Amino acid sequence: MPRPALQVIRDEHAAVSAVLRSMLQMLERDPDEQPERFFDVLRAMLFYIDEFPERLHHPKESDLLFPKVARVAPELLPVIQRLEDDHMQGENRVRELQHLLLAWELLGDGRRATFEEAARRYVEFYLTHMRTEETQLLPVAQQKLSESDWAQLNTAFQAHHDPLASGERDPAYDRLFTRIVMRAPAPIGVGPA
Ligand SMILES: [Fe+2]
Ligand SMILES: [Fe+2]
Repeated sequence: MPRPALQVIRDEHAAVSAVLRSMLQMLERDPDEQPERFFDVLRAMLFYIDEFPERLHHPKESDLLFPKVARVAPELLPVIQRLEDDHMQGENRVRELQHLLLAWELLGDGRRATFEEAARRYVEFYLTHMRTEETQLLPVAQQKLSESDWAQLNTAFQAHHDPLASGERDPAYDRLFTRIVMRAPAPIGVGPA
């Protein structure tokens, strides 16, 4: 049975927050033990966020969900505006992090602190964003949107697959999936803690 849009959104949030929390766990480690593997996993995580949440999840919220909620609950406009600003910033922020990670990997430990600080700020930014959607937006959407709104949202959110959120195995993402899940620590992965 295809999952309804609301469930897809929540599952995708859960997948991203697991990746973000794993990323923080990674930062507690010492990359010198297995530097290649260490940077490989972090790179795969940032690539995942750029490829799925940024390009699939956010646009569907911005293009479909937000306008519908704004129509039935205009009092939420300031919140929607803030969330929209986050979406606008998101892609640049994750690209910037990918650059800072490469700088650390290729230029050495002198660049570590800059990456770490930016990564922590990014995780905070992203978790706050999803929390706001889940606590302030989704409950209102659930209450006020019509059946035909939901039919449209279901079709849109069912049309893409986030390989970490859908629970379905798509061979196209095997390499990415393996890197993140087999090598990263919990909560997303099964790699060594
Ligand atoms: Fe969002
Ligand atoms: Fe979201």
